[in-house]
Amino acid sequence: MTANAESTVTAGATVREAVAMNAEPPRLKLPTFKGKRLKLGRRPGSPDPEDVGLSRRWVGSQSRPWAVDLFAGAGGLSLGLRDAGINVIAAAEEDPVAAETHAANLGGLTWVGDLRDSSSFVCFLRERGIDQVDIVAGGPPCQPFSNAGLAKIRSLPRRQNDERTGLWRAFFGVIDELAPRVVLLENVPAFASMQEGAILAAFVGELEERGFNTQARVVEAWKYGVPQHRKRLFVVATREGESFRWPRPSRKVPTLRDAIGDLPVVGPGHREEVITRERRPSSPLARRLRKNLAETEIGTVTDHITREVRSDDAEIFALMRPGQTYADVPPAMRRYRADIFDDKYTRLSWDALSRSITAHIAKDGYWYIHPEQDRTLSVREAARIQTFPDWFRFAGHPSNRLRQIGNAVPPMLAAVPDIRQSCLIIFGRHARGAT
Ligand SMILES: C[S@@+](CC[C@H](N)C(=O)[O-])C[C@H]1O[C@@H](n2cnc3c(N)ncnc32)[C@H](O)[C@@H]1O
Repeated sequence: MTANAESTVTAGATVREAVAMNAEPPRLKLPTFKGKRLKLGRRPGSPDPEDVGLSRRWVGSQSRPWAVDLFAGAGGLSLGLRDAGINVIAAAEEDPVAAETHAANLGGLTWVGDLRDSSSFVCFLRERGIDQVDIVAGGPPCQPFSNAGLAKIRSLPRRQNDERTGLWRAFFGVIDELAPRVVLLENVPAFASMQEGAILAAFVGELEERGFNTQARVVEAWKYGVPQHRKRLFVVATREGESFRWPRPSRKVPTLRDAIGDLPVVGPGHREEVITRERRPSSPLARRLRKNLAETEIGTVTDHITREVRSDDAEIFALMRPGQTYADVPPAMRRYRADIFDDKYTRLSWDALSRSITAHIAKDGYWYIHPEQDRTLSVREAARIQTFPDWFRFAGHPSNRLRQIGNAVPPMLAAVPDIRQSCLIIFGRHARGAT
């Protein structure tokens, strides 16, 4: 394995910092973000996977290179791959609501099931005419590797512990059957440090046994245009041993204002799913995220819905200035111990990166207080900071939508390992046809 790193997986401080960034605060009883369950239909033009004949005909019409996305969630990684010119022909995900989001936005054949039995997924693909793919990609659940997850994992019996941390093994059930030329894994940096690096070493060892050359790199999302503190590990493996090119990082820091500055002002508890857009996108990032909207959606914003705010929190939010945290709340107003909850409340700043959007945002929004409005981020704001375009909709109740968003690979980050470029080298003219 080579680790020609912007920050390598062996750089202990980098990994520790990233682990700390993913740490979740202790849980508190808080009202969930209730609201309408949004149901989405399948993306027009993609077949019902239950209709095997139609699916086979559709597969026969699809251009290469083909990828399958494992643990696909809402489809952040899939969208990044698609933006990079890869045809994500199928996705596997056990959560039916996340799979609904994926099917609605990405199309392709969505398989809903448990990848610990990857042979069922492979059977599903074979029945529909997919015997070989070019890329196997995926981001296995990262909670087991987060600080909160680690504490939970350690308390589990050994068998359950292995199951939770060993989901990456599903890759090999799929790789062995579908013979990809490229493999891509995305995860939190702690995937590399867990068990003194044994998990990453085992993953890479399995790839190398199968003749792949691998590279691992921890990338900082902001250097690729994603306006948040977020570091993620990518492992890329190619069969040909071609030198794999990582795009050059940028020095320009994208800001929260770039991502959400043009969205309408809304209060807490705002539940209108579709509202009129008043301002034009003012930054290149916002303009990019407004692209490809349907004609009927051009003057509107969807999913700009917000949580209720408790009255005592509203008073605290009103006192906090951008960049301030719980430690800055006047002692008389605190509900929790500031030494434990020093960053429980974080008021984001317009002209800085956002805090990393993680699945924790589905539990409460206190890490994500709007810089000016006395409320936590809306679903659409969280999606924008994750660089999901505005045409992308999320199925489910508001908390579920936020969980899918927090779990996702930001699509702009997913396009970083320049798989398309490698595909051009590896597959030659074949890949050039894909757009
Ligand atoms: C980190 S998220 C993946 C996010 C996705 N790559 C994206 O960019 O949107 C991990 C996903 O794995 C799914 N998952 C967890 N255990 C699974 C299993 N045993 N089989 C299939 N999917 C599973 C979870 O429901 C979750 O959506």
